[in-house]
Amino acid sequence: MTDLKGRDLLEPSDFSEAELSSIFDLADEIIADPGAYTAKGKGKLLAALFFEPSTRTRLSFESAMLRLGGEVVGFSEAGSSSAAKGESIADTIRTVACYADLIVMRHPKEGSALVGAATSDVPVINAGDGGHHHPTQTLTDMLTIRRRKGKLDGLKIGLCGDLKFGRTVHSLIRAMRSYEGTEFCLISPEELRAPGFVIRDILSSSARYTETANMEEVLPQLDVLYMTRVQKERFFNEEDYIRLKDTYILTPGRMEKANSGMIVMHPLPRVNEISTEVDADPRAVYFEQAKNGMYARMALIMKLLGL
Ligand code: NCD
Repeated sequence: MTDLKGRDLLEPSDFSEAELSSIFDLADEIIADPGAYTAKGKGKLLAALFFEPSTRTRLSFESAMLRLGGEVVGFSEAGSSSAAKGESIADTIRTVACYADLIVMRHPKEGSALVGAATSDVPVINAGDGGHHHPTQTLTDMLTIRRRKGKLDGLKIGLCGDLKFGRTVHSLIRAMRSYEGTEFCLISPEELRAPGFVIRDILSSSARYTETANMEEVLPQLDVLYMTRVQKERFFNEEDYIRLKDTYILTPGRMEKANSGMIVMHPLPRVNEISTEVDADPRAVYFEQAKNGMYARMALIMKLLGL
């Protein structure tokens, strides 16, 4: 059964492999014939509550709802909501659930989406809760991997950069660990290694993993290289950020060491970690990934609203 109507999406393991596949199948169908979906969401209202900055996640959700023929309300900064007056997340979400059919929320506090979902009468989608999880980026990432590599199993995935605070990394690992033959290469400086809860996720699955600080050493073996930005906003002091921010920079020279079928992914925004010269390499799929994000979110909205 893959009936997702009325469900929340707070972290990737809220959905089974079959349920995830049903979202990717629908996204593929939407990509093949977007015109067939323009009235599916008519009469439905999405609330997009962004207490933290966003370009792709917010605009792709809004575009997704509008392209389904639905409507969108919301805010793009906490300062313009009653959070600025001291209202709790629980009260804000309980209120918005009176107006909308579906709530998407991003908040700097880990666990905030769970708190919101507990008081909501309508489905809540976590669009990023601090340095914890970002499951709809994972839908975007997995749809891109599936479309590019034709499968989700048996892949060697390198995750590079800020594995400590990078919520997209935490969510991608949680989802991909259960596919047969998955192998993770965790590439980071010592101070930005993946946290214990992520390592325990891998250890409780059949996936294998290695940790290294050396990108070049593992590059030739990878099927997927997932680059990430060092998460400046989660650092306690700026000196550490400045010291670590340029640890890894993917250049055309480094791409020569990678195999010809490897894809380069990035949730974006990019700062310095991928040189813009790499953008022309056919293996660079990060803007395609951003576009897939809208289709993955159209499919998710349809599933949660039972459209
Ligand atoms: C990511 C995020 O917000 O965690 N961005 C996104 O949603 N595409 C990655 C990041 O900000 O580095």
